[in-house]
Amino acid sequence: MIVGRPLRGRNGEILLTAGTSLKSTYIESIRRLRYSGLYIQDEFSEGIDIEDIISEELRSNAVTAVRRLETDMVSGAANGFGAQIDAFAGFIDDIIESVLSNKDTIMNLVDLKIFDEYTYQHSINVCVLSEVIGVAMGLDRAQLFNLGMTAILHDIGKFFIDKELLNKPGRLSDEEFDIIKKHPELGCDYLRRNFYYSSAIYIGVLQHHERYNGKGYPHGRAGSDIHIFARIISVADVYDAITSLRPYHEPVLPSEAHEYIMGNAGQHLDPDVAGIFIHKVAPFPEGSEVLLSNGLRGVVYRNHPEFMSRPLIKLLPIEGKPPSVEFIDLRDDPSLFNVTITKMLT
Ligand SMILES: [Fe+2]
Repeated sequence: MIVGRPLRGRNGEILLTAGTSLKSTYIESIRRLRYSGLYIQDEFSEGIDIEDIISEELRSNAVTAVRRLETDMVSGAANGFGAQIDAFAGFIDDIIESVLSNKDTIMNLVDLKIFDEYTYQHSINVCVLSEVIGVAMGLDRAQLFNLGMTAILHDIGKFFIDKELLNKPGRLSDEEFDIIKKHPELGCDYLRRNFYYSSAIYIGVLQHHERYNGKGYPHGRAGSDIHIFARIISVADVYDAITSLRPYHEPVLPSEAHEYIMGNAGQHLDPDVAGIFIHKVAPFPEGSEVLLSNGLRGVVYRNHPEFMSRPLIKLLPIEGKPPSVEFIDLRDDPSLFNVTITKMLT
């Protein structure tokens, strides 16, 4: 097996470059680090070029900055906090630039996180996904900046909560859940005291667990009484959270996360924001393996932005024999109108 995309370590260093052939010792190390997966390059992935919306370097530098932010906040180094925030301003501008220049592209990424680094990687992912939504909604540049800052900082209140509790597998008691539920207020209060950017940012942080139907926390606000940043971040947050491996749940597939977001539109989530999101993020990312209702298996080769549940598929061999046609297009082929994708396999 050949590595398809470079795999980076905790500090952004490249552990495996693209093109490396995988030895069993490498696979063991990847397992030890609890990566959720790896991109493989083979004859079936040929012609599928999966590009992240932001560069890997930008992503890993931003993750490192979030990790430093936690150290500075917890140690009480207020000046350090200011320096990290200024670093974020640069990252956010770069993320906005990347999202704006890929405005018409669909997000096709299966995110491969290091298990222990979830908190840091999550805040960057929420930032990128929020910017994708913000750009699609036509927010102006200043709003996009404040949205990005809110997204990166949305969970910083968790830095003040016991990690063991945050990562506790299984059900939490009401008392434990009450402690975790304090993180939006802890984050907001910290920012109010130590922050010199727009107040919209700490309001967004405070409200990111409010729900559209008024059943969220801390204040049970509903609909447009919840700041737009918080309504955007709720969608990005839930998508990244449920598609990630956590101590208390297995990751769901992007297609299942799509269903979840559609099912919650108008309930937990703002239906307009949810609608925009599901048109920007692919339910079946290019390069993923799928099973069709006619029993065939294939790799998603191209997504059609307007009909994302009906992609162009490159078929895989059937019992070792090559398929009779190389590609089928679920959108265009009239003989396939009743064939559906029943499962995503990788
Ligand atoms: Fe949160």
